[in-house]
Amino acid sequence: MSSSGIRLAQIDDSTRADLFALRVTPSQLRFVGSVQDALNDAAAYPHANPWPRAVLAGDRAVGFVMLSWNVVPQPPDLIGPWFLWKLLIDESHQGKGYGRAVVQLVADLVRAEGAVELLTSYVDEEGGPAGFYRSLGFEPTGEVDGSGEVIVRLRLRDDA
Ligand SMILES: CC(C)(COP(=O)(O)OP(=O)(O)OC[C@H]1O[C@@H](n2cnc3c(N)ncnc32)[C@H](O)[C@@H]1OP(=O)(O)O)[C@@H](O)C(=O)NCCC(=O)NCCS
Repeated sequence: MSSSGIRLAQIDDSTRADLFALRVTPSQLRFVGSVQDALNDAAAYPHANPWPRAVLAGDRAVGFVMLSWNVVPQPPDLIGPWFLWKLLIDESHQGKGYGRAVVQLVADLVRAEGAVELLTSYVDEEGGPAGFYRSLGFEPTGEVDGSGEVIVRLRLRDDA
C-alpha cells in the first residue's frame, strides 16, 4: 500500500473485467495499448517474464502495470533486468498521483529484490509520458529500443 492508498494486486476473475474497462484518452492511445493488448503481449513473450498487476484504489481498479521481472537482457528487444513494460492510469483517475505512486511501489519492490535500476522506454512525442518520467527522476540511458523508443532509467541505489 502506498501513501496515496493504492496497492498492486494479482489479476484474477474479480479484477479482470474492471481492468479491461480501463481507458486512456484518445490522444494517449498511441503511447500505450489496451490492457488486453498488454496481456496478449505477456502471453506472446513469456521469455520477457511478464509481471502484470492491477492497480487498485480500495476495491476499484484505476490502472494497470506490467514489468519484465528480472530478465537476462537481450537488447534492443529485451531490456532489463528490471523493465517497466506497461503503465496506464484510467483517464478519469489521472492527475491524482496514482501513476507516481505505482512507480514508487514498483521501485520499492524491485529494490528489495536487489535491483540497482528500473528501466523503461517511451515514445518521445508531444503529449506523451516523457515529462511524467522526468518528474519521477528517470534519466536517459542514451539508448533506444528495437522500436526506436527512448530508454530511461531510475537509479535505485546511490552507487548505481
Ligand atoms: C503517464 C501516466 C501513467 C501518468 O499517470 P498519472 O496518475 O496521471 O500521474 P500522476 O498524477 O502520478 O503525476 C505525477 C507527476 O507527473 C506529472 N505528469 C503526469 N503526466 C504528465 C505528462 N504527460 N507530462 C508531464 N508531466 C506529467 C504530474 O504533473 C505530476 O507531477 P507533480 O508531482 O510534480 O505534480 C498516465 O497519464 C497515463 O496512463 N497515460 C497514458 C499511458 C502512458 O502514456 N503510459 C506510459 C507509457 S507505457
